Amino acid sequence: MTRRVAILISGGGSNMMALLRDMGQGDHPAQPVLVASNDPSAGGLAKAAAAGVATVAVDHRPFGKDRAAFEAALMQPILDSGADLICLAGFMRVLTPAFVQAFAGRMLNIHPSLLPLYPGLHTHQRALEAGDQEAGCTVHEVTPVLDDGPILGQARVPVMPGDTADSLATRVLEQEHRLYPAVLRRFAAGNRTPIYL
Ligand code: GRF
Repeated sequence: MTRRVAILISGGGSNMMALLRDMGQGDHPAQPVLVASNDPSAGGLAKAAAAGVATVAVDHRPFGKDRAAFEAALMQPILDSGADLICLAGFMRVLTPAFVQAFAGRMLNIHPSLLPLYPGLHTHQRALEAGDQEAGCTVHEVTPVLDDGPILGQARVPVMPGDTADSLATRVLEQEHRLYPAVLRRFAAGNRTPIYL
């Protein structure tokens, strides 16, 4: 049974595009049914529409601090799309446990660090400040605890002399675009065995 994937973005959606490209290969156990963003100006929305995927923007700003109301508005088009799997891809809003529980075991995220190192923001700067010799990215199942769920895959890159947060981010992002599609293929086929690239 083909899984139906909703992808949530906040910006350019480079990971979203990597997932769409791979699902477009024809032999994939999942298909995209929606790309949703909390930011109506997210560049990824136009890219998804150009790729023929339904899109929706649910601006979080009018909801102010009422996270539950924003998430109810976001969840509605996801449910209407018939999605049975959610991929967070550059999605920059922290989700409440209620939203996460609705897709328990069926929500993935990519995070730009070798979790459990550096949950949260500014991961590359933190790795550089710690003097780490390597960095990377992690795809994990989303649980109510931020950046904490079961690891489904990781990819490592070397930290090079003279690296800045930007140069390291660029090197990691390249691996994100390999890792996330590889993990989604296996996860959608029911295989949760972690992948290490
Ligand atoms: C990437 O670093 C990703 O790891 C993080 O958000 C950043 C932008 O992702 N989740 P994208 O280019 O919007 O997919």
